Amino acid sequence: MRIPIALAISATLALAASGEQAQKAPPARAGVTRTVTSTLVDGKPIEVYTLTNAAGVQIKAMSYGGIITSWRVPDRQGRFADIVLGYDDPAAYLKNNSPYFGAIIGRYGNRIGKARFSLDGREYPLAANDGANHLHGGRRGFDKVLWDAQAVRAGGAGVVFTRTSPDGEEGYPGSLKVRVTYTLSNKNELTVAYEATTDKATPVNLTQHTYFNLAGQGTADILAHELRINADRYTPVDATLIPTGQLAPVDKTPFDFRKPTAIGARIKGEDPQLQFGRGYDHNWVLSRSESELSLAADVIEPKSGRTLQVRTTEPGLQFYSGNFLDGTITGKAGRIYRQRYGFCLETQHFPDSPNQPTFPSTILRPGATYRSRTVFVTGTR
Ligand code: GLA
Repeated sequence: MRIPIALAISATLALAASGEQAQKAPPARAGVTRTVTSTLVDGKPIEVYTLTNAAGVQIKAMSYGGIITSWRVPDRQGRFADIVLGYDDPAAYLKNNSPYFGAIIGRYGNRIGKARFSLDGREYPLAANDGANHLHGGRRGFDKVLWDAQAVRAGGAGVVFTRTSPDGEEGYPGSLKVRVTYTLSNKNELTVAYEATTDKATPVNLTQHTYFNLAGQGTADILAHELRINADRYTPVDATLIPTGQLAPVDKTPFDFRKPTAIGARIKGEDPQLQFGRGYDHNWVLSRSESELSLAADVIEPKSGRTLQVRTTEPGLQFYSGNFLDGTITGKAGRIYRQRYGFCLETQHFPDSPNQPTFPSTILRPGATYRSRTVFVTGTR
C-alpha cells in the first residue's frame, strides 16, 4: 500500500479557528496539519498540529507547553476513542493546568528536594512550588511557555518544538537550547525525541506528562488497567515524595509490576509508600536490556483491548496513578476527572538526582548534547 506522506499545511491566520472547532474537524488524511488558534500567549497565537497516520490514529499537540491535547486510537472492534485527558479549548490550559495534562516537563521532571542544589561548589536556589520542594521545573516550567513549532515529515507525521530557556530561568544556570520532536509512524508509534545544549553546566531531565485512560478519556478510573513495569527496583520516597536514596527491591511489595497486574489490585494497601503518594507516584529503576530503546512498561485495558507500550533510553520511569485528580476539573466533552481517572508513565532520570550523588547524573555541560528518546506504541489485543 502506498502511503501519502505529503505534508498538508493549512494555516488559517486571519480566520483563526478556535481550539474547539479544531478538535471537531473531520480527520485529515495521513500527514500533518497546522491550525492557528485565537488564543494568545505573550501576544502570539497558540498553534495546534494534527498528526494523522495511515491507520487513522490521530494525535493533536499544541505549541503551548508542547501539550498533547488528544490521541485517538481504535479498540479491538475498530472503534476510536480519545485516550488522553485534557481540555477542548486551548485557553483552558492557560487558566488551570495544575495536573500538567499532556505537557513537556522541564528543565527538571519531578522533584528537587528543598528546592535547591549545589553544582561545582555553588548553590542554586529554585522556586519551591510543591511545599518546600521544587516540582516539574518551577512556577513557569516548560509546560507553561509557548514553543516555536514546525511540521516535520521524516519518519512519519511530526512536529518539532524548539525554545531557548534563558540563563537563570526558574533559578537554573545557563542558556539551554531545547528541541522536542513528536513523530507518529504508520506502526502507531509516537516517538518523543529530546535534545538540549547549554552554555553553563545545568541539570536537565525532560519528560512528557500525558495522562492516559485506554478505556476512553473521562469514562472511568484506570484501576482495571493491567500494567507491567520492567523493573526489579524502585526509589522509595519520604513523606514529601523525595527519594531516600535507596534502590529498594520491588519483590513482595505492591510495587512489583514485573507480571501484568491491575493498577487497582494493591493500591489501597497499608504500605507507607502508598500512603505518601496517595497511591502510586514513584520512580522505578528500569531493568535495561537494550543499549538504546529498552522496554519500560506495557499496559492493557481489558474491556476495549487497547494496549500501550513504552520504550525508552532513560534509566527511570515515574508511574503516577492520577491520585491528585479530585473531580474539580471538567475536561474534554464535559467529562469530570475524578481521582485516578488517568495515569502517567513519565520516562526520566531519577527525582532529586542533583542532590543524590549515587543516582545517574542529570548534569549537562557545555559542549555535550542531552539526548533522550521515548516511544509510545498503541495497539489492541
Ligand atoms: C508528577 C508528580 C506527582 C504530581 C503530578 C502532577 O507525576 O510526581 O506528585 O505532582 O506530577 O499532579
